[in-house]
Amino acid sequence: MDSEAVEPLLKVTDLVLKYSTRAGPVRAVDGISFTVRPGETLALVGESGSGKSSTALAIIRILPRNVAEFSGSVVFNGTELMKLDDEEFRRKVRVGGISMVFQGAMNSLNPVLKVGFQVAESLIVNVGLSKQEAMKKAEEAVELVGLDRTVVQRYPHELSGGMKQRVLIAMALITRPKLVILDEPTSALDVMTQANIMNLLKRLKAEMSLTYVFITHDLALASELADRVGVMYGGKIVELGPSDTVYSNPRHPYTKLLLESVPMLRADRPPTFIPGTPPDLINPPPGCRFHPRCPYFMKGKCDAKVPKEFRTDSDHLAACWLLEERGDE
Ligand SMILES: Nc1ncnc2c1ncn2[C@@H]1O[C@H](COP(=O)(O)OP(=O)(O)OP(=O)(O)O)[C@@H](O)[C@H]1O
Ligand code: SF4
Ligand SMILES: [Mg+2]
Repeated sequence: MDSEAVEPLLKVTDLVLKYSTRAGPVRAVDGISFTVRPGETLALVGESGSGKSSTALAIIRILPRNVAEFSGSVVFNGTELMKLDDEEFRRKVRVGGISMVFQGAMNSLNPVLKVGFQVAESLIVNVGLSKQEAMKKAEEAVELVGLDRTVVQRYPHELSGGMKQRVLIAMALITRPKLVILDEPTSALDVMTQANIMNLLKRLKAEMSLTYVFITHDLALASELADRVGVMYGGKIVELGPSDTVYSNPRHPYTKLLLESVPMLRADRPPTFIPGTPPDLINPPPGCRFHPRCPYFMKGKCDAKVPKEFRTDSDHLAACWLLEERGDE
């Protein structure tokens, strides 16, 4: 769902991830496509349950047991990941390829293991370094993220939230990845700590030539880091484009409402909220999934056919029937 000017580092095409539940399959990721170019940050934004984490987990192939369908194409650095077996995936992707800072992982650090070992573990398991060599690298990694190297000797409960988040970033960077997926990396932190972590992410990106996929429900936060933004709704990307264009000229009604719902200090209007509830992903609404909540709903069209993706500018796409008259699919 975007232009091909620069060879992408990551190209995701028609990615599908469904979970099986007693009530039927949950369409968490329902045929999404996007690319990430080397050195850029793509933000994936959307409400809770829109499929952001599932998209990330599908890319990095960390799937729960109840997967009902997992399909599509994920090409990373020229290699089709969907064709790799688990061992090839570990060698080619988990080491020096793609790393992830998992949502909520601050609270899942192992309480009985020292921080250093947890940072070093991937080098022992995936690279085969000795414990001693890996621990030395762990010290370097915690320093890289702005912590004192003695932190490696401490236990998670001895660290503040901001320090734990830095440890998680060190863990993700220790294998020297090209692409880092950051899933809500600051959402559990206070505003000051959040700002510090955002600055750290910016510094690391520049110093290590990293490419980011930055997942957040917070549009304002996404705008700080993102070159391009993909807006997710009900397991699909509904708008994708350069962040300044998407913010200044949103083309999908959901993006417009999402932007209006962001509280702004100096705005002359109060923030609005989006009426209705997110779609049921077991029995999603027919046609456009946003139609039950959309102020521009067109009966017989929006509830009948899934909207196509329309190109509104060279690098800006939105999936909404309102854009059909332009005729530039
Ligand atoms: N293992 C699972 N089994 C069944 N349904 C799941 C499972 N994991 C996620 N889901 C459902 O899939 C949908 C997408 O979830 P996902 O966690 O990807 O959303 P998200 O955009 O990351 O949300 P959040 O902002 O709350 O983190 C939701 O409806 C969620 O309830
Ligand atoms: S396709 Fe119709 S319902 Fe969906 S966002 Fe566009 S106008 Fe609204
Ligand atoms: Mg999530």
